[in-house]
Amino acid sequence: MATIGVPNEQGENEFRVSINPDGVKRLLAQGHKVVVEKGAGEAAGALDRSYEEIGATMGGASDAWGSEVVLTVGPVGKAKLKLLTKGAILIGSIDPFLNLKMMDALAKAGITAMAMEFLPRISRAQSMDTLSSQSNIAGYKAVLMAADKLPRIFPMMTTAAGTLSPARMVILGAGVAGLQAIATARRLGARVEVSDIRPETKEEVESLGGRFIEVDMEEEETSGDGGYARAVSDEFLARQREILSERIAAADAVVTTALVPGRKAPVLVSKEMVEGMKPGSVVVDMAARNGGNCELTSPGETVVHQGVSILGPTNIPALVPVHASQVYARNLVTLLAHMTTEGVVGVETDDEIVGPMVVTKGGEIVESRIKEAMA
Ligand code: NAI
Repeated sequence: MATIGVPNEQGENEFRVSINPDGVKRLLAQGHKVVVEKGAGEAAGALDRSYEEIGATMGGASDAWGSEVVLTVGPVGKAKLKLLTKGAILIGSIDPFLNLKMMDALAKAGITAMAMEFLPRISRAQSMDTLSSQSNIAGYKAVLMAADKLPRIFPMMTTAAGTLSPARMVILGAGVAGLQAIATARRLGARVEVSDIRPETKEEVESLGGRFIEVDMEEEETSGDGGYARAVSDEFLARQREILSERIAAADAVVTTALVPGRKAPVLVSKEMVEGMKPGSVVVDMAARNGGNCELTSPGETVVHQGVSILGPTNIPALVPVHASQVYARNLVTLLAHMTTEGVVGVETDDEIVGPMVVTKGGEIVESRIKEAMA
């Protein structure tokens, strides 16, 4: 049996919790003890009493952070580092590349830190994949944000006062977030056009009722491991932008989700393209934290340029904290079940799923890319 801590999240505007009451129930069934910091689930609709009723032990910050295994949604703040005990296992979306100093501090404190971002995207690990579960919810919400900002409605409406035409939406990137964005925009009645560099996404886009925008240029290899994209040439990106500029000029709303792992987000919407859009149009740039798919994006802010609003939200899942926490918790519970043998949570670095996630262990940084970034 391990003691598992569920602390209050540190991030500003972070309303999720790593384990919801249902997750507690499942961890108890795995034979663990769960210590929840008072108030940890409040912003995600889980009051202390709903945790208590299910059998969690409520405690203070030092109880939750001082557990053998600590589960978080976001990175650890400096103040909480000293509450972690030597030898503890920390699992969360700790964003190692953006928190190198913290990775160093975790290593020095003798913590085994595992980053959910580094979970391999293989079918066996799908049910543990927090990036996918959160992107899915974020793709849905991004469309609602666009709809909310738009000075017109999404569906076509035939009324006694005349006919209103449907909104036109362009979605860039048809990965996890993009596909959910397409489905949501279609449900709201928009006409949807989609661009992705992986040709195999065309069929998925069309099955959701979207129109695929073809780029008439051959690129050798656009698909990499695990359904992720590979970087494409500058010539390809230039041709893609050329084709997109016409589609984007006709659009009322654009949602961008284009990503190549480990790279800065490709800039697909230039300043000129924004200037070609109608006043009142909206761009929701989901890649804001990765540098943005739109040249004018400012992370965490809304920029208005010649009447076009460019939203750069950096933590969309936190805006849907109940369901985002529910699926996040299920991912972690499944991961812990995978790591638990006879009640003991083990970090096997040669395990196909666990191994790539381990950033610090035995007082050192063990993840090769992070080691390199530190140097
Ligand atoms: P994903 O890897 O499943 O999808 C990315 C897609 O972009 C892939 O289909 C890829 O082929 C495509 N792509 C790459 N280069 C492209 C290009 N030049 N043109 C068109 N498509 C291109 O990633 P996922 O999980 O869907 O996430 C998408 C983005 O959303 C990421 O940047 C992620 O960090 C971000 N995100 C942001 C959130 C927020 O709160 N702002 C929340 C969740 C995800």
